[in-house]
Amino acid sequence: MKSPAKSLTQLPKRALDLDWRLVLLLISSVTFFTYISISSSSTAAVLISLPKAASFKSILHPPNHRPSRPNPTRPLNGSRIAVCLVGGARRFELTGPSIVERILRVYENSDLFLHCPLDSNAYKLQLLSDAPRIASVRIFKPQPVPETESQLRVLSPSNSPNGIQGLLQYFQLVEGCLPMIKAHQEKNNFTYDWIIRTRVDGYWSDPLGPENFIPGEYVVPPGSSYGGLNDRFGVGDYNSSVVALSRLSLISQLDSAGLTQLNSETAFKAQLSTQNVRYTTKRLPFCVVSDRQYPYPLGRNGVPVAALSSQGPLSGAKCRPCKPVCSGPCVGQMMSGLYRSWSWTEWANNTLELCDAHGEWEEGWETVFDNSAGKKLASARKRIWALNMDKCVDGFDKFKKRAAHWVGPSAAEICGLGLEKPA
Ligand SMILES: *[C@@H]1O[C@H](CO)[C@@H](O)[C@H](O)[C@H]1NC(C)=O
Ligand SMILES: *[C@@H]1O[C@H](CO)[C@@H](O)[C@H](O)[C@H]1NC(C)=O
Ligand SMILES: *[C@@H]1O[C@H](CO)[C@@H](O)[C@H](O)[C@H]1NC(C)=O
Ligand SMILES: *[C@@H]1O[C@H](CO)[C@@H](O)[C@H](O)[C@H]1NC(C)=O
Repeated sequence: MKSPAKSLTQLPKRALDLDWRLVLLLISSVTFFTYISISSSSTAAVLISLPKAASFKSILHPPNHRPSRPNPTRPLNGSRIAVCLVGGARRFELTGPSIVERILRVYENSDLFLHCPLDSNAYKLQLLSDAPRIASVRIFKPQPVPETESQLRVLSPSNSPNGIQGLLQYFQLVEGCLPMIKAHQEKNNFTYDWIIRTRVDGYWSDPLGPENFIPGEYVVPPGSSYGGLNDRFGVGDYNSSVVALSRLSLISQLDSAGLTQLNSETAFKAQLSTQNVRYTTKRLPFCVVSDRQYPYPLGRNGVPVAALSSQGPLSGAKCRPCKPVCSGPCVGQMMSGLYRSWSWTEWANNTLELCDAHGEWEEGWETVFDNSAGKKLASARKRIWALNMDKCVDGFDKFKKRAAHWVGPSAAEICGLGLEKPA
């Protein structure tokens, strides 16, 4: 799809992802252009409304109605999906290609919105050049978020690595997708049907399935709920998602409701319930790749770190590439000791194997990763590691060109931060 897209840069952005056969058909079919020009003042508007699965026959002999709304029995065909991807790119050479393959390419019509802090790993984000559609990218220099009295009343610093400031930074990161999405909608005159909210550090072992899109309900993974709701992933219709993503701006409502001492997960749950957004949990095939070290064996509040090679679904549990130290009957013994409403995650039927994560990632983890992730992902990891400054800048510029909207430093600055040794 890449090469025809390149030659069509004059076309409206929304047209760029059309199947190339459709593009050829558009160019060669005078009849069709006539239809467009009499049925709409704007070619772009008609192109936008074509569902992905429209057959050529129905394009050449269009039905009377414009097939722009999703068919309720096939909810995702023809619906508009925004993917909000946020976070630091620390191990993105491991996670990025899995996100492209198992979310973005599964929903080829989806638009990517990327909101990330600038740091020494941001150059790895260029792996997203392989995404089918990139609507908007914002890479920002992290700044302290001002703390209001209301926030200090509502939030608790305990168990957050950087206290209340850390929570606020995270909330701002997530909420930052909303203005990006809204600007894109306004510019193109439509509203998304769904928003998928996911993390840069998520490793997806299997595709995100269509059963997770439920009108009127916000879907989150079970487990890792820390007294509230697992906030490591969410998908919902537009209205539910606006509430779910408004992590910072809804704190004042939690304050009005008299809530105090909340962590990220309890604040998330309260945010949905006070705004009357229904939610449900569904097991999801991803884990959060983490460099953090956690005591092992696990205590009642211990954090299980899954082997990335676990069969899953891991529903957003922490993971790293390791040779598991606990599998089979050991897992049940270990996991049944955890508080269910805290760090616990589903483990039955050999879906989970545990790492001893009390130290750094083990020697040889690269091979462990490559063996479970497969050749394609392994080669992306190696490609990132082999970048020099010139290749990095080229790759990043290519990524930048594919984005309809871009706010961030130059490729040279981003690559320099990662690849140039400090003087
Ligand atoms: C979309 O339509 C195709 C066939 O037209 C079908 O196979 C597929 O399951 C549909 N997808 C969804 C999510 O309903
Ligand atoms: C936006 O879309 C709506 C409905 O699809 C249409 O009625 C309206 O004229 C459009 N506005 C612009 C500025 O194109
Ligand atoms: C979403 O919210 C808007 C405005 O708040 C409302 O008009 C619309 O009916 C809502 N849509 C659904 C599907 O609930
Ligand atoms: C484990 O497998 C059994 C039998 O297939 C199934 O009934 C049960 O729901 C599974 N448990 C979990 C937690 O997946």
